[in-house]
Amino acid sequence: MRIDIITVLPELLRSPFEASILKRAIDKGLVSIHMHNLRAFATNSYNQIDDYQFGGGAGMVMMIEPIDKCISKLKSERNYDEVIYMTPDGETLNQGIANQISLKENIIILCGHYKGVDQRVRDHFITREISVGDYVLSGGELAAAIVCDAVIRLIPGVLGNETSALTDSFQDDLLAPPIYTRPSEYKGWKVPDILLSGHTSKIEAWREAEAHKRTEKLRPDLLEE
Ligand code: ADE
Repeated sequence: MRIDIITVLPELLRSPFEASILKRAIDKGLVSIHMHNLRAFATNSYNQIDDYQFGGGAGMVMMIEPIDKCISKLKSERNYDEVIYMTPDGETLNQGIANQISLKENIIILCGHYKGVDQRVRDHFITREISVGDYVLSGGELAAAIVCDAVIRLIPGVLGNETSALTDSFQDDLLAPPIYTRPSEYKGWKVPDILLSGHTSKIEAWREAEAHKRTEKLRPDLLEE
């Protein structure tokens, strides 16, 4: 998978890809990340990429021309499955959306800033608009990092144990069951006996029941769908 990220702040997006699972995925050649500084596509001598909004009002708007130039250049080099715009008024990211995106080959992610982009960018270039939640960030970069993390860990071969992404919370609209590791007793707090029994099918049944219990208690909305 190839991810092209268009941003005015590439430095904000470096560290997530320089450690742990995302770095390993890149090193293994399972995904490649390409940053494009929008400023390099500015068309006037001030390197301007934003301007006042027509009709008045506070806040700057990202101009269409630099974004068009950047997206058009990328599209002239390969086909893209999605051009995603990170914005608080997009569809809220969930596991299903992450699963869908993980199946794509080439995607562009555009990070918004200031008040956002000129509406014509959204009308003519963007195929999908994603929010990471009902709150406003200073820019789309951290949101883009969240999308990349959620998506990349689903690409086959990225996680050591192939089954572990499938047993994540939300993969079957359930939260994950409680998990424990050694010691089996700490300050008198014991791990449930069933997990130490070695009885695989009983353990599976216990985990499923606990996942249901936890979901009913913490996220009953997931069970209604
Ligand atoms: N940009 C600013 N806030 C955002 C959010 N909540 N989700 C995605 N992009 C954003």
